[in-house]
Amino acid sequence: MKIVLLGPPGAGKGTQAKSISNRYSIPHISTGDIFRKNISENTPLGIEAKKYINDGQLVPDDVTINMVKDRLQQEDCKNGYLLDGFPRTVHQAEALQLFLQDRGESLDTSLCIDVPKEFILERMTGRRVCPSCGASYHVKFNPPIVASKCDVCGSDIIQRKDDADETVRERLDVYERQTQPLIDFYSSKDLLSVVDGTKAINEVFESICRILGSDK
Ligand code: AP5
Ligand code: MG
Ligand code: ZN
Repeated sequence: MKIVLLGPPGAGKGTQAKSISNRYSIPHISTGDIFRKNISENTPLGIEAKKYINDGQLVPDDVTINMVKDRLQQEDCKNGYLLDGFPRTVHQAEALQLFLQDRGESLDTSLCIDVPKEFILERMTGRRVCPSCGASYHVKFNPPIVASKCDVCGSDIIQRKDDADETVRERLDVYERQTQPLIDFYSSKDLLSVVDGTKAINEVFESICRILGSDK
């Protein structure tokens, strides 16, 4: 199964992606996570990406597209994958279509987690993430079992730099201008399903499973 997850920053893409990836046994590929890993390791890609991410801007298309193409050619993607945070521009979506076409493949669906703006700020400012394993929490909606510690690996959880108020507003603007057009892009290809992302985390996951069905 090949799935694209769409939705504004803070919609719950990463949260749902973890469960979808477990349930359907497909790798979770988050461009944001790949960039953050490269930033923490100070690689050339990380140094380049950091210039944009900390201001809430998108990393340039050519850098992002090449990075994703490399990732999708790895062995674990043979039976499908879940893309979280890619594509994010029409140009990226077209590049993905071409990549798939060249390999005689196609996307199964794109799932948009729909969350109105008024929910986003509370979700983002309350988010905490694990710098070691990438797990994501929320101080109110999804707290870790032991305060400030990751349930999965026990590391101290932290706030993401780009979750500061001003940067979140910028990311929302960027989403509206550059990513929202993908909803029409996939809808016109009959590849769009929308789920109500304002519900509780487990309810959103149930809606997603109803759409994806029981195939693996
Ligand atoms: P990325 O890491 O992808 O950030 P994003 O899209 O802004 O999305 P977030 O990760 O902030 O939110 P999410 O939807 O995953 O929500 P989460 O599950 O964490 O990208 C970061 C940056 O990298 C971009 O700004 C850009 O610079 C760059 N980048 C990445 N991809 C790129 C691309 N393709 N091209 C160019 N640049 C790119 O949930 C949020 C919070 O809400 C959590 O605390 C969670 O616990 C809580 N929560 C989740 N669901 C619920 C619920 N149902 N009810 C209550 N709380 C909930
Ligand atoms: Mg995320
Ligand atoms: Zn962890």
